Amino acid sequence: MWPDLINKAKEGGLDAIETYIFWDFHEPNRGEFHFEGNLDIIRFFKTVQQAGLYAILRIGPYVCAEWDYGGFPVWLHNLPGIAFRTDNQVYKDEMQKFTTKIVDMAKQANLFGPQGGPIILAQIENEYGNIMKPYGDAGESYIQWCAKMALSQNIGIPWIMCQQDDAPQTVINTHNGFYTSFDWKPNNPKSPRMWTENWTGWFKGWGLPTHIRAAEDVAYAVARFYQFGGVLQNYYMYHGGTNFGRSAGGPYISTTYDYDAPLDEYGLLNQPKWGHLKQLHEQIKSAEKILTKQSITHKDIQNGVVFSTFMDNSTGKSFCFLSNNDTKQDLNIELGKNGKYFLPAWSVSLLADCNKEIYNTAKVTTQTYLKKKNPSNVDTQFNWLWKAEPLKDALTGKGSLTTNKLLEQKATTAGASDYLWYMTSVNIDNSFGHNAILHVNTTGHVLHAYVNKKRMASDWSSGGGSFVFEKPVTLKTGINHLSLLSATVGLANYGSFFDLVPTGIVGGPVKLIGNGNATKDLSSNEWSYKIGLNGENKQFYDDRLSRDKKWTSEELPLKRAMTWYKTSFKAPLGNDPVVVDLLSMGKGHAWVNGHSIGRFWPTMISKAPQGFDCTETCDYRGEFTDKKCMIDCGLPSQRWYHIPRSFLNAEDNTLILFEEMGGNPTQINFQTVTVGKVCGNAYEGSILELSCGIGGKISAIEFASFGDPQGTCGSFKKGSSDAPNTLSVLQNACLGKESCSINVSGTTFGLSSSNSNTPKKLAVQAVC
Ligand code: GAL
Repeated sequence: MWPDLINKAKEGGLDAIETYIFWDFHEPNRGEFHFEGNLDIIRFFKTVQQAGLYAILRIGPYVCAEWDYGGFPVWLHNLPGIAFRTDNQVYKDEMQKFTTKIVDMAKQANLFGPQGGPIILAQIENEYGNIMKPYGDAGESYIQWCAKMALSQNIGIPWIMCQQDDAPQTVINTHNGFYTSFDWKPNNPKSPRMWTENWTGWFKGWGLPTHIRAAEDVAYAVARFYQFGGVLQNYYMYHGGTNFGRSAGGPYISTTYDYDAPLDEYGLLNQPKWGHLKQLHEQIKSAEKILTKQSITHKDIQNGVVFSTFMDNSTGKSFCFLSNNDTKQDLNIELGKNGKYFLPAWSVSLLADCNKEIYNTAKVTTQTYLKKKNPSNVDTQFNWLWKAEPLKDALTGKGSLTTNKLLEQKATTAGASDYLWYMTSVNIDNSFGHNAILHVNTTGHVLHAYVNKKRMASDWSSGGGSFVFEKPVTLKTGINHLSLLSATVGLANYGSFFDLVPTGIVGGPVKLIGNGNATKDLSSNEWSYKIGLNGENKQFYDDRLSRDKKWTSEELPLKRAMTWYKTSFKAPLGNDPVVVDLLSMGKGHAWVNGHSIGRFWPTMISKAPQGFDCTETCDYRGEFTDKKCMIDCGLPSQRWYHIPRSFLNAEDNTLILFEEMGGNPTQINFQTVTVGKVCGNAYEGSILELSCGIGGKISAIEFASFGDPQGTCGSFKKGSSDAPNTLSVLQNACLGKESCSINVSGTTFGLSSSNSNTPKKLAVQAVC
């Protein structure tokens, strides 16, 4: 997907691509490095360079990124004497080794700017300033060390640290957030103002809603940044994509990492965001020479309205920004010789020569896409095969290590699997009774309990934290085998000491409560442990690797836990992105042709966090937060799972699922994602373009109104005024065409010239 995504980024007006480096993927076991396939960072940077773009290398190697363990390999946790992200020799040695390795590889490939390469900035650490306080003095000396270590790499380009107010010089501190404020400045007045993470939307968690951030608001944030003298801003994310494999962190970060980014999870344009920002980039760059002179004057026109003038004294050329940070009031601003402007609430206008509006962040002229899913045009009947996860050893207590303690999960698995079996046995006499309660205090995230080879119950944490498992179990007199399968769903990735957040049944207690509340505490029993599933160890997920071929179609079980399913399918024809609908499944992990397409958990239903609601409409005005503009409450957190075309063969493909809770694979189907509807929304005086993209045709106009239409694409409504000919004008101009363009003016729709102060707007919704 890289070349296509990079080209779309370039076409969108970006001139640099920023990426993190993920230590856990490159060094999954200590000293064992991987840079092949998707991990080929050199190829990635070369692809960026071939596209004619610059690159920003964020090594970290702590990266946060909603990534499993923030990008740290879990083996690091098990190094004796280690303390993460502080002045600790064991940690620093490993961090330096990995950083040096990446820098050396980049040097060898001539990737740094002075070598003729694309990389113009490099980052060390990540937002340490946000969480450093609890680390005390050791944190301060650590950040000094980070800077020294980075600078000693001699890469010939600046190093940056984000959110680090005390960045040791010459490291430049940069900003992250939804906005930058006028007051935000790097700690050295000579440093440029740079914004490493402009959050274009927000990530999603299992059980949490989808976040959307309006194009108007992202554009507003960007324009304000340049108005205040910013020189570089990076969208986090421009393309968020998919958390394949077990890369999602959290806990409870979903497999989709769409982020409402300008390029969606599948690499399709997220319109109008992509196009609205593209226009903004063009206009800002048109003034680049003037803006970088940094001779700025800001004038308060009225409360919340700032007129900023950039002057290039050598040429006498000027460029202005006019911003309105009121969250409600649209304004008509008179600037004397500089003109008269309609300035919507929460918007910024860009004025060429300080007297001609060339862009306003709230006046979106780019069309909106509503995507749709289309059933596959090939193969809709699948032949399902299955096999049970072999449980015999786990259910009879056979593990690979034994101890009298309840161990911490990630330390025990060293990150090799989401799954860890905790197994013990207990002698029950008649007086205890056969119907007991199993009580487990666990730090999460999911727990399945088996007693005497029988599955008793499952439970999980609602948000990924610790929870108490308390379920009835049936016992017998004599020796009982107890096998508890604990599953993690992404390790913590953010916060002071996040690396120490415990997982699994560590410490317990694990208790059985019998007749008359008689309690047996099993916490210091002899526990044996088994890391991972047998199916994982035997590579059931990859037909080419697995030697176990015992799949059967007989008595295909539905709603059966701990089950592997397999089918083959043909790729849907064409090039549109492919998704698989896993709505009928419970929880597990899916693979296509041996490539993981991530964890699935469609039975997790999205709910707004306590005290918040999902919204029907999202008002772009006012500060965006991660609790604003949430949608999809009441729906499965994630129903559709992306299968990149590059994972697919034209003919024969294999989908393999591991189902942990119980699901029905016969409902699974493959679909493609395309643009279903396009909407346009444009002010009088502009040109509205509608296009279904290559090969698509406009087949119907569902809505058209010129006046003061309300709502957004998918839910437009007429306002108090509406020109009568609008629909027929649109039908004549657009039906049956791939694209059409409309001159938005009263005369186009049969009105005599408008005399109102507020310009009229055209809203259109068309079917592709
Ligand atoms: C920042 C962090 C990023 C990402 C982002 C939220 O704090 O640097 O890696 O986690 O938040 O998406």
